[in-house]
Parts: sequence; structure tokens; C-alpha cells
Amino acid sequence: MKQQELEALFQEKFEHNNYRLFFAPGRINLIGEHTDYNGGHVFPCAITFGTYALASKRDDKLIRLYSVNFPEEGLIQLHLDNLQYDPKHSWTNYPKGMIRFLREGGYEIETGLDILVYGNIPNGAGLSSSASIELVTGVAVQELLNLAIDRVELVKIGQKVENHFIGVNSGIMDQFAIGMGKKGFGMLLNCQTLSFEYAPIDLNNYHIIIMNTNKRRELADSKYNKRKSECECALKKLQEHVNIASLGELTEELFNSYQNVIEDEGIRRRAKHVVYENCRTIKALKELKNGNLYTFGELMNDSHRSLRDDYEVTGKELDALVEAVWQQKGVIGARMTGAGFGGCAIAIVKSDQVDQFIMDVGSLYKEKIGYEATFYVAHIGDGAREITGEELV
Ligand code: GLA
Repeated sequence: MKQQELEALFQEKFEHNNYRLFFAPGRINLIGEHTDYNGGHVFPCAITFGTYALASKRDDKLIRLYSVNFPEEGLIQLHLDNLQYDPKHSWTNYPKGMIRFLREGGYEIETGLDILVYGNIPNGAGLSSSASIELVTGVAVQELLNLAIDRVELVKIGQKVENHFIGVNSGIMDQFAIGMGKKGFGMLLNCQTLSFEYAPIDLNNYHIIIMNTNKRRELADSKYNKRKSECECALKKLQEHVNIASLGELTEELFNSYQNVIEDEGIRRRAKHVVYENCRTIKALKELKNGNLYTFGELMNDSHRSLRDDYEVTGKELDALVEAVWQQKGVIGARMTGAGFGGCAIAIVKSDQVDQFIMDVGSLYKEKIGYEATFYVAHIGDGAREITGEELV
């Protein structure tokens, strides 16, 4: 959608056009899945799909919200002093939670806002549209009200909204990638300490392809929370024998020598995934730095297998996609990305084979699953920010 069209809608809904434009990206995770809430490492990057917000400050305490993506919800009007979670308020719970927790965090927010939101992240695709709305709201509030908010603090408030307002016990990866993203770079983040480093993603004549299973992610949140508690259970058992604060502190060797203290075979496999995935993620950065793209791709493939067999969060749609990719020529590696249970996978594919790749993987997927997958070329973009001047929607 063009900025002029958004501007016209803003004018229609709010009867003025005195807005500023903000953007927060979505994210993909190259490797390091379900490690963030276990004190491990992740390696995500921000993409150029994301959420735009046209926003302005009001003189009263009303917050008026409209989403181009959910026109059926209409214009929702809230009061700054009454920001409660309400399941009927669908998407607006994200900006609502963000403003509420910023206020509770001591930031001075005494005037309301008009906000029109438009997102071009495919819906429910697991590319973090929710964290993107949280962060675009946060940046808009920060800039419009001139608040000094440290970026990592804003990221943490986004996670808090997810955990304590929405009720998903997610880790910090999505908000961090979206808040701290940098064009052309991935970030290796230690989720225990939040220390991180940017790593250039130089793929030469390869592209990252995002593949959407188009599977609806029903019940995903409850299964996600279940995995998290299974990991907590594994950690408790291990802590009776080893002095660790999180699964992310274990090496593969240490895990192997203690794994039998976890009696439940399923829970043992969950922990194994976390420990091995964390080690793979650290190795992946090293391989990338040394220009060993093929080894990096192998680690991606191992990651998918581990998420499929040990963590059990892939499902037949993601497996059908990734396994179809593994049969193709010109592919470095492929894996699911994000929480799983549907959503998206990514593949690193030779640039001049992308069209053929999409046709072949697309038809194998449709044959097996019965409906189409959707493919996008990923571009690694900057994190959440105000957009001024030349950079149009
Ligand atoms: C979701 C969560 C993240 C992370 C991933 C799995 O995207 O929001 O915190 O746990 O799943 O790696």
C-alpha cells in the first residue's frame, strides 16, 4: 500500500493529517530455535516486511486505533487510564499493552494518540507480526512524546506485553531482532546476558527464501507454553546434579553425561534439542564468519531435524516444505523458523535457481498437503524506527 493511500485513510478516520510515520520490521531466525527462553543463543535478523504506523499525539487522553489489516474491527477508542486486556479487542491489545506497560514503567504518557496501522507481514506466518506491532507502538510513543527510552528497555517491555498482557510465555528473540535489527546483518544474541554481536550476512549469489506453509496456527500458543514448561521440568531435574541456571549453560558432553536423570524420555528429548541447538547456533556464526556457507547450511538442516524429531514442533506442513527443499539443487540449507506448528520455513537458495526452486517446491508441497505454499525473497532490513523523507512505504 502506498503512503498516499495510508494518508488518505488516516485523514478519513481521524479527520486530520498531522501524522508522523513509524516502522517496525518482522523477523526471521536463521538458527537457534526455542533456545531463547532457555538462556541460549539465537541468530535472527530483521526483514523488510513489517508494520507501519501513522501516528499523532492528541490533546486529551483518548487512544484511537485503526488497522488497515482488520477493517472489520473498525475504529477502536480507548482511554489512557483504562487499558485492560480484552479478548474482544483483538489486535489492539498489543498497542494497548505496550502503552500501559510503558506508563507503569514510569514513562510519562499523559496524552492520547491517534494511530493507524498497516502491516505487510503475511498474517499468522510466524514472522512476528505481534512483536512488530508492539515495537512500532513503542517507537511511535517514544518519538511523539519525546521520551528517553533505552532501546533494549523498549525490547524488554515488548516481551513483557507478550508474557503478562497477552499470555504467551515467549522469550526475548522477536522483540530484540525487531528492535535492534540492522540492514544486511544478523545478530547472535546470548539470551541469558543479552550480550550480542552483529554478523554480516554475505550470501554472494544466494538468496534467503521465506516459505509460508499457509497453515493456520491454531493452539500454537498453548503448545508453545507447554514446551516451555517441559524445559523447566528438565532443568529442575538436572539442577539436582549440576550447578546451572539454564539449559543454555550445558555443553553437549555435559548434557550427555547427566541426561539420564531426566526419567521422562519425551522431556529428555526436549532438553537435548535445546542444548544441541544452542551449540549449533554458536558454531553457525563461526562457520559463517569463516565463509563456510555449506557447513552453515548443514547446521540449518540439523536444526530442522532436531525440531522435528526431538522438540516436535514442526508438523507435517513444515516438514513437507523443508523435505521438498532438501531434494532441490542449488540449496545450501533449510529449516523452519520461529515457533513452528505451521508458519514459515526458510531456505538459502542459489539466486539464478530461485524461480525453478519455487515452482518445484511449490508443486511438491501442494501435491502432499493439498493447498499452496507462498514464497518470498527475504531482504534483511533495519530495526524499528521513524521514517522520514525519501523512504516510502
Ligand atoms: C516464538 C517466540 C520466540 C522464540 C521462538 C522459538 O517466535 O516468540 O521468543 O521462542 O518462538 O525460537
